[in-house]
Amino acid sequence: MEYQFLVLLHVFLAIVIIGGVWMASFIVIPFAKKTDNPSFAFNYIKAFDRGSHLVLTLQFLIGFRLAMIYLPMSEWFTFSTHISLSVVVKLVLWVALFAWMIIGKKKGMSTPETGTLKSAGTYFGILSALAFGLMLFGLNFRLGLI
Ligand code: HEM
Repeated sequence: MEYQFLVLLHVFLAIVIIGGVWMASFIVIPFAKKTDNPSFAFNYIKAFDRGSHLVLTLQFLIGFRLAMIYLPMSEWFTFSTHISLSVVVKLVLWVALFAWMIIGKKKGMSTPETGTLKSAGTYFGILSALAFGLMLFGLNFRLGLI
């Protein structure tokens, strides 16, 4: 029961995070560029940023617990199966995603005062790639693709 509940929550939060990031990269920023309306994109980013750290932290805790259900922690770093590989890659990707969010914020890449649509595009492009990796290696637990 715990497992089912955690997977449901993990997938729901993944939709929020991946959907939000991809929406910015592939729809909102290109549309703002095309219509020369930067405030449209920066308003979306402002709304997305509210609570994104909280959602990411929750996702980490749920993912951590799911990984413990799959494999004892002592076997996480053995790289002997696709499960242990997936755990390590997901931990690394999560840290990279969180770090890039902080770096991007510090550099002011996604705020209208200090950033441009180009810098916001780069910022969200990198987030999109990391989010894709988290999705791929999440699915890898069951599918054993890599
Ligand atoms: C932003 C962060 C994350 C996102 C967007 C994400 C996304 C996903 C997705 C899309 C799945 C596939 C769900 C399924 O096949 O049912 C998944 C599964 C999984 N994730 Fe994550 N994940 C994140 C962080 C983490 C972290 C930090 C861990 C810890 C190592 C983790 C551990 C797992 C595990 C163990 C599964 C397999 C669950 C299952 O299908 O049985 N995730 N994740």
